[in-house]
Amino acid sequence: MTITDFSKNFSYRTLFENVFDPIAVYRVEDGNIIFIDVNPAYERVMKLKRENIIGRTFDDVWPYAEARWEGVIRQCLAQKRSMHCIGESSDVGSYLEAVAFPIPPDMAAVVFLDRTKLRRSENTLRKRQAQLRELAAKLTLIEENTRRGVASELHDRVGYDLICQLRMLRELEARDDTADIKPELDALIKNTESIIAGNRSLIFELSPPVLKEAGLNPALDELAQNILAPHGIKWHIITKGSADEYKADDSVCIILYRMARELLINAVKHSKASEVNIIINRKPEIITVAVEDNGTGLQGSSKGFGLFSIKERLLALGGNLKIISEQGKGLMAVMTCPLKMKKGEILHDDKNTFSGRSQTLH
Ligand SMILES: Nc1ncnc2c1ncn2[C@@H]1O[C@H](COP(=O)(O)OP(=O)(O)OP(=O)(O)O)[C@@H](O)[C@H]1O
Ligand SMILES: [Mg+2]
Repeated sequence: MTITDFSKNFSYRTLFENVFDPIAVYRVEDGNIIFIDVNPAYERVMKLKRENIIGRTFDDVWPYAEARWEGVIRQCLAQKRSMHCIGESSDVGSYLEAVAFPIPPDMAAVVFLDRTKLRRSENTLRKRQAQLRELAAKLTLIEENTRRGVASELHDRVGYDLICQLRMLRELEARDDTADIKPELDALIKNTESIIAGNRSLIFELSPPVLKEAGLNPALDELAQNILAPHGIKWHIITKGSADEYKADDSVCIILYRMARELLINAVKHSKASEVNIIINRKPEIITVAVEDNGTGLQGSSKGFGLFSIKERLLALGGNLKIISEQGKGLMAVMTCPLKMKKGEILHDDKNTFSGRSQTLH
């Protein structure tokens, strides 16, 4: 179809005239892009009169336009196929998407779509996502600080009071004048001992001492012992890179430990694996902890919260989560995290702790 056919064709002309989006038709003459036609929407949006444009070159009409707009027309004409580009137009003051398509034999029509609102919504969405991730990271650390605080209180106060009470009960039991209530005292002593044991395991669960005392590698080993061993799943800890040389922040170790816990629980819950590898790899800037099983692998789409939460929290800390899985060949979840937290982030918010025990983790 030539431009003459195009202009004469009533239905195309009606569409061209009435469509809300600006359309311009161009041709290359002597290396210049020439305006052949524009619709009323183009006149309205670009604030130009049709009679002042037709027959003039693109450069002449838009001397300060960004290179992308002329580029898309030239590419479309040269390659004779549809092209598009998107970007800010300083002349129009909008964020535009240009869709160029060829009109054989030698013309191109370009529809300009105003994407300003879409762009604004996308920016807002991106900002909100970033805020959400930051919140998730803060939440993780505040949660850890709270756990540590509660563990300290249980250890220093409740634990101490229970030990005192146990000693008093034992002293009472040893006296001659309590012989007639010995069975009751025995029961009370047993009961107190069991509360002390329960309190101790609660403290361990809330703030694993091995993480504080021995570091991430032994802590993950103990975690695997607690989670995998009861299900008969074997595990191996594989370490690469020196923990002394590439020392991770305490908060990084705590976060990786908690997330590894979720991955090990997932291996038990979903994989039917018989073996799990926990691979800890330290490099100058980053640490990766991978949990690899030899189970079923991902079956269909994943709908839980665990992996999503790990991913969001790691992204917030400048890391990421990669899932590598093939059906029937197991699953490997690789968590990557910077060794050090950025300064200024609320990562050691000890205001949230109670009596905050100091921790050094490797
Ligand atoms: N090691 C694994 N082997 C096989 N499938 C897995 C494994 N880990 C996760 N999946 C699959 O991915 C899905 C998502 O895991 P995710 O941890 O996000 O959720 P969940 O464990 O189902 O629930 P929750 O929210 O309690 O963690 C699981 O439902 C499961 O189908
Ligand atoms: Mg899970």
